[in-house]
Amino acid sequence: MKILGIETSCDETAAAVVSDDHTIHSNMVLSQLEDHKIFGGVVPEVAARAHLDHLDNIIKGAMDEASIDFSELDGVAATCGPGLVGGVMVGMMAGKAIAAAHNLSFIGVNHLEAHALTPRLTDKVQFPYLILLVSGGHTQILVAEDVGVYKRWGTTIDDALGECFDKSAKMMGLGYPGGPNLEKMAKECKDPEKAIERFPLPLPLKGRAGCDFSFSGLKTAVRNHIEKLPEGDLQKEDIADLAHAFQTTVAAIIEDRVKRAIERFLDEYKNAFPQGLKDGQSAQKPAFVVSGGVAANMTIRDCLKSLTARHNMDFMAPPLNLCSDNGAMIAWAGVERLKRNMTDSLDIAARPRWPLDPTAEPKVGGGAKA
Ligand code: KG4
Ligand code: ZN
Repeated sequence: MKILGIETSCDETAAAVVSDDHTIHSNMVLSQLEDHKIFGGVVPEVAARAHLDHLDNIIKGAMDEASIDFSELDGVAATCGPGLVGGVMVGMMAGKAIAAAHNLSFIGVNHLEAHALTPRLTDKVQFPYLILLVSGGHTQILVAEDVGVYKRWGTTIDDALGECFDKSAKMMGLGYPGGPNLEKMAKECKDPEKAIERFPLPLPLKGRAGCDFSFSGLKTAVRNHIEKLPEGDLQKEDIADLAHAFQTTVAAIIEDRVKRAIERFLDEYKNAFPQGLKDGQSAQKPAFVVSGGVAANMTIRDCLKSLTARHNMDFMAPPLNLCSDNGAMIAWAGVERLKRNMTDSLDIAARPRWPLDPTAEPKVGGGAKA
């Protein structure tokens, strides 16, 4: 089974061909970084126009690289939300048109589900598993029980973590996208202990019940520290110290919130992981997955690696190119859905918000997009 996947929900124009034997035949991603750089962030209208300009070529490139014709596909999967709806419509309409013209199944993919299912493409992880999804638009803790069945245990009540990285980096005078630049700058810190003493930062919601996140107070604290620095140009040494303190604080917040989720998961799902040997093979260990663009951050990865090891869980993080937005994850979500006959009709609508767990209480903050 071969599926073409199309992704246009944010600032990556992407298309890929993936088959049900986990082969990625092609994975074309065009980042619009340069288009948005001058604005210091993603501008929805600019993104939608850029998707329109480039999507045809990206799809052609993905089909050529996979050496396959549209008629050899089993289906077309396109992101239908959540995301910037102008961009989503571009990819969704292209996908529907290809499906209609070649009489193929169409799968309208929830972008968050695609991130959540990526470890099944890369590592064949079995349900149920625990996920931390951290990107520019989302910060969620989820349990994946099955395709289409997710429990959302935590989400941000204000900013998403990637957004907090980007805005803090901007205040520090670092270019867009802020996350990777802030991580680079933190490596320049000469005295990590002193940096943390110099720039104390709050740990919002630390120790509170539940697994929700909050990052807007952290962002404000970064601004307050910057305002107290001597007037004039920001000095590299100060920014390196502040970047280090910021990253260390973020890791501590994540550790606190994820630890709660792990304890709950190991308790509520214990029957899914019988101890001992099964048919001569070791029983499945519970798995923890981190995905989304912020999962590229090594401080955060290392912290999660040791946290999950302490709880005897498998730690999985998809390779970086499959953590950030891409077409392969959309195509794979299409494979998983088509295998279960979960296809969509061509009148499915684009959805700017589309929670994975419809029973979870909605949050109203700026970063709570689903
Ligand atoms: O998943 P993604 O590519 O797109 C969205 O769906 O949002 O995530 C992009 C986000 C941006 O906020 C970017 O700054 C952040 O991921 N990011 C990082 C790093 N690399 C990307 N944040 C922290 N450290 C990094 N190394
Ligand atoms: Zn994403």
